[in-house]
Amino acid sequence: MLETSEMSFEERMVSPQKTENDTDDFEVTLRPKSLSEYIGQDKVKENLSIFIEAAKKRGEPLDHVLLYGPPGLGKTTLSAIIAHEMGVNIRITSGPAIEKPGDLAALLTNLSENDVLFIDEIHRLSRQIEEVLYPALEDYALDIIIGKGPSARSLRIDLPKFTLVGATTRAGQLTSPLRDRFGMMMRLELYSVEQLTDIIMRSAVILGIACDRGGAIEIARRSRGTPRIANRFLKRVRDFADVIGDGKINKDISKIALDRLEVDSLGLDNMDKRMLNMIIKGYGGGPVGLETLASAIGEEAVTLEDVCEPYLMQLGFISRTPRGRCATPLAYKHMGYEFKGEVPDTEQLTFN
Ligand code: ADE
Repeated sequence: MLETSEMSFEERMVSPQKTENDTDDFEVTLRPKSLSEYIGQDKVKENLSIFIEAAKKRGEPLDHVLLYGPPGLGKTTLSAIIAHEMGVNIRITSGPAIEKPGDLAALLTNLSENDVLFIDEIHRLSRQIEEVLYPALEDYALDIIIGKGPSARSLRIDLPKFTLVGATTRAGQLTSPLRDRFGMMMRLELYSVEQLTDIIMRSAVILGIACDRGGAIEIARRSRGTPRIANRFLKRVRDFADVIGDGKINKDISKIALDRLEVDSLGLDNMDKRMLNMIIKGYGGGPVGLETLASAIGEEAVTLEDVCEPYLMQLGFISRTPRGRCATPLAYKHMGYEFKGEVPDTEQLTFN
């Protein structure tokens, strides 16, 4: 059995990525089916509901949508809701799963009129596949080359009209021709503690778990703004409630369970703490470049950037300056250090 501190990123309790334990059944059961059931992301929901109603009124497919933001916030859920609200089917795939142009052609030719095609991790599509996608997105057509050399001919196949919903954690990595073909780009934000509390209470009802609001708030506080983490914690806290409590989740049992899982009062785990410690103790509070920081603590830079950073920035614990990452006085305080330096000139610093 690995100590929590030895767990890889994939195995972290606070990993927003899907793990083997987040069974599809579990996620699917808890997934809201309609916009009205979906908690949070109010701006995205309001705009989507207008665009969906307008498209339905005109009898047209919804324009192509790009959903971006940190992992675990409900991009797949939202795309299924879009299909449900439009009254169409959804096909779900991912950038790395589409290896050859033929894979994409098979997906596209099997769609029905106005269907949703969801491509997760769309930034990982190869250039060759992207080229096939462009006429599909613009003209609902596939250009197929038949034969080779001078006798090669191009054949255009009409496709049903459809909506592409692309999801990515890294909108900046999309090529501009692909980005330009989306009619809507929507950014999902980390959830507030209140919203996560509501999500946990809803999940508890669906799963038949007795959980009071105090217990849900405690879980929510430690879930790093991410519903996938909140729902995972709910299951683990229930285990503690069943074995060392009376089967009911309250604030005390949530605290005990999550402390034992080495998730601190704000949801930081060992990796976040090593990152903050390295900035504070190793680099005098920063600035330090992300790559330098990643190699100093033996993690991938993308993991720090996609997973640790958004939440630490939301807490106001780190700031980005043109010369690298800095720890803020709040981070010093949380980590139990005295802040002696100057507050850095920040490019982005969000306090929630
Ligand atoms: N479960 C996971 N994400 C959710 C959300 N945004 N609203 C309601 N339930 C959820």
